[in-house]
Amino acid sequence: MQSQKPKEKSEKLPELMELFPLMEKLGKHLKQNETLNGVKIGWHCHLTQLTLLTAEALVEGGAVLFLSEVNPATTDDDAVNAIRALGAKVFVGESSPEKVLEESPQLLTDTGFVIIDKYLSMTPAERPKSVIAASEITTSGIEKLRKIKDLPLPIININGGLLKARIENYHGVGDGVVDLMRRLTGRSLSGLHSVVVGYGAVGSGVAYHLRKEGGIVNVVDSDPVRRLIAHFDGFSVNDLLTSLRNADVVVTATGQRQIIGETHWQAARDGAIFMNVGHWPEELDMNALRKLATKVDDLELKTQRFYLDGAAGSDKQKRIYVVADGNPANIVLLTGSVEPTLIHLATEALCLSYLAKHGASLGHGEHLVPYEVEQNSSILALEALRA
Ligand SMILES: NC(=O)c1ccc[n+]([C@@H]2O[C@H](COP(=O)([O-])OP(=O)(O)OC[C@H]3O[C@@H](n4cnc5c(N)ncnc54)[C@H](O)[C@@H]3O)[C@@H](O)[C@H]2O)c1
Repeated sequence: MQSQKPKEKSEKLPELMELFPLMEKLGKHLKQNETLNGVKIGWHCHLTQLTLLTAEALVEGGAVLFLSEVNPATTDDDAVNAIRALGAKVFVGESSPEKVLEESPQLLTDTGFVIIDKYLSMTPAERPKSVIAASEITTSGIEKLRKIKDLPLPIININGGLLKARIENYHGVGDGVVDLMRRLTGRSLSGLHSVVVGYGAVGSGVAYHLRKEGGIVNVVDSDPVRRLIAHFDGFSVNDLLTSLRNADVVVTATGQRQIIGETHWQAARDGAIFMNVGHWPEELDMNALRKLATKVDDLELKTQRFYLDGAAGSDKQKRIYVVADGNPANIVLLTGSVEPTLIHLATEALCLSYLAKHGASLGHGEHLVPYEVEQNSSILALEALRA
């Protein structure tokens, strides 16, 4: 099914974000500490306006940056140009992590365990000798990291820290979904029937924020432990097909692939809105949906409307809406308050500062983000919040 893509435009940050000057404070902190002076950093990340703010702080701290692209759908061309104007090298496209590795970085920081994986898949002789340590920020990346035996580097797990799980994953994504729903529908979320698939740090925050707005939330999770926790948190817990019958909105947050497939598209009600906030776009099987669709329209906010034939014997068609082609919707559309994401990016930058100082003496393998890094990040955030 062919469809015209809407003209992409860059998602701007609100001007009054100046009232939360976390990155200015971070830049001054890094400059004062001098730990990153001249340090070459290979950074695999979403290339957004928030990355630009973090890059400014890192460059003020003296870091030399080489960036690669996580997902073309989340890349903001204006942000890329502005990061380049800071003197950083930004590579885009599938081979961008390899290009970063050719620049002999000393530290790697990753989103989804891609650049570290490329480094590890080289023979020891091929690997750039310059790399001393790394960090990973996502749940999905840490899942991949843990499958590898005998890591030849110290790698800090930022995702396992308190701040990433409680502020960014829980509040940041949940708030982003609520913001996106309002912008998409122009409606109050009161009484909205939603299904959240995956009740981890991300999904539980989405469920909490949707309910805070008056929504009626159903939780689906394959793990009975998570289902029990959701039950005690006051959510109804059901299987996916049952939940879909009533769902106005379906949010996937499992970090797995093919969660919504042909039977689910068919079971969804007319007007159901689907969005994924997990790391992989394949969480929604878009190929299956395209095969079922008789017509597709492109709408604003990178959303598509698919028409599907109704139940057998019915001449009615139903409409299914999908945001951002299954890519993490809050990141693509930069929705929600920016504080949580900036706090986790500040933690990532402070982790790099820690690794520049201590990386060479850390043992190989996974390390939890040092508490002093989270404390420093919290001090800067609290100052920026004037709290
Ligand atoms: N969009 C964003 O801004 C953003 C921010 C942080 C993390 N993430 C991503 O969100 C995803 C979830 O992160 P998390 O920290 O909540 O992970 P998590 O592992 O804590 O939670 C995932 C949950 O999904 C459940 N699950 C797995 N397979 C399932 C299936 N087939 N059906 C139903 N439930 C299933 C698991 O049991 C678990 O409870 C990851 O991919 C992560 O990288 C996205």
